[in-house]
Amino acid sequence: MTRDVLDYLDRHQSETLDELFRFLRIPSVSADSAHKADMQRCAEFVLNSMQKAGLTAEIIPTNGHPLVYGETTQDPAKPTILVYGHYDVQPPDPLDLWTTQPFEPEVRDGKIFARGATDDKGQVFTHLKSIEAWNRIHGSLPVNIKFLIEGEEEVGSDNLERFLKANSDRLKADVAVISDTSQYGDGIPAITYGLRGIVAAEVRLIGPEKDLHSGVYGGSVANPANAIAALMGSLVGCDGRVQIPGFYDDVAELTDQEKSQFAELPFSESGFLKEVGSGALFGEEGRSTLERRWARPTCDINGIVSGYTGEGPKTIIPSKAMAKITCRLVPNQNPDRVLDALEAFLRDRCPAGLKFEFRRFHGCEAFAFDPTSPWITAAGEAIEEAFGQSPVFIREGGSIPVVSSFQQILGIDTLLLGWGRNTDNLHSPNEHFHLQDFRNGIRASACLWQKLGNVQAWQVQA
Ligand code: BES
Ligand code: MN
Ligand code: MN
Repeated sequence: MTRDVLDYLDRHQSETLDELFRFLRIPSVSADSAHKADMQRCAEFVLNSMQKAGLTAEIIPTNGHPLVYGETTQDPAKPTILVYGHYDVQPPDPLDLWTTQPFEPEVRDGKIFARGATDDKGQVFTHLKSIEAWNRIHGSLPVNIKFLIEGEEEVGSDNLERFLKANSDRLKADVAVISDTSQYGDGIPAITYGLRGIVAAEVRLIGPEKDLHSGVYGGSVANPANAIAALMGSLVGCDGRVQIPGFYDDVAELTDQEKSQFAELPFSESGFLKEVGSGALFGEEGRSTLERRWARPTCDINGIVSGYTGEGPKTIIPSKAMAKITCRLVPNQNPDRVLDALEAFLRDRCPAGLKFEFRRFHGCEAFAFDPTSPWITAAGEAIEEAFGQSPVFIREGGSIPVVSSFQQILGIDTLLLGWGRNTDNLHSPNEHFHLQDFRNGIRASACLWQKLGNVQAWQVQA
């Protein structure tokens, strides 16, 4: 059965790539309102691809960018799978660091270069194409499929929760599938059973109503740039520990078993340093790099601006300063409590005479699933068939807000089956997706429907 589908996919490789290129040419940058029309255009592209794959599909407007939803019911006795992905991409800046234009896809050295190639258009496309192939060859699928592709993942999925709550009956499924993570390493596919959560905030310090002469007035009023530097400098200690009181209170500690599972994964410190282009590791004492990345919370400054940064000196006290901060969370931490603690910590330390403003952005909880369900076993078999290598079980440090919403609102777990690699430059210049990963991903997806279709209700309840 699956064999014929795989043969069909092999025969149609070049058309599939052409179609992916059309998807990648649409600059669907969700963060930038200048791209509002492109977002609509991209949603229409996804709609057409769903319809071509044999799904009954529609575009669903939200308060932000539209969702695209499609489904096909084959047989109520078969499992129902909810596939999620996102068609929005990160801004392509800085443009001058791209070898070719971000929205003019090109294959070089066996890799597809374009913004969104791996995060997440290329990965979404693997599922659309495998479903299309099943329908072309057999006129049916081994599972019922619901397909939800959103346009606001990269800006925090703010409008998705409301849609999930209002449509929880319609979205009812046995398990969710998301391909928006990475393999563990070159030639080592993975199933990800945990992700970190996130909270994001912006701090503004407002001082004198205009920039002041730093000689005439310096030393007599608080300097917003000095203050932001001091505040930001107080967040993380030299020992890598976050200094906010209560920050670690709810943190779920790793079990010894999980620690040793992490330790058994192949890991080269020098290879890792080369990957990130850094001279030394840094982080909480007594924790391995994988523990720090996958299972410990963080507080990172994403950007700071204040005052004069042009050529040559300028003697001023800047009138204002601002910084952007994100914290990555681990299971059990509550996003609102972490933001409350962060805000109180900074507000208390803000010098007199400066106005303190704190703005909260998106947030989501972390999660870690039990990696032994029959769904995971089935997914592992599909991956092994397509990649020729059985997957390792990992957690990741990034966040996908919808996963904990699926758990809380729909009561289902998610299979995170990433075909990408962390070295694909996601969110960076020269983002790419290996052709080999794209092809293996499509094949694994084609095998997945058959394997998931074989999971019996009694196995899930057991
Ligand atoms: N696909 C990533 C998340 C990811 C990448 C997880 C690699 C694991 C490995 C996703 O598109 C992403 O970038 N998420 C954001 C979420 C945020 C904007 C709410 C993140 O993690 O920064
Ligand atoms: Mn993504
Ligand atoms: Mn992303």
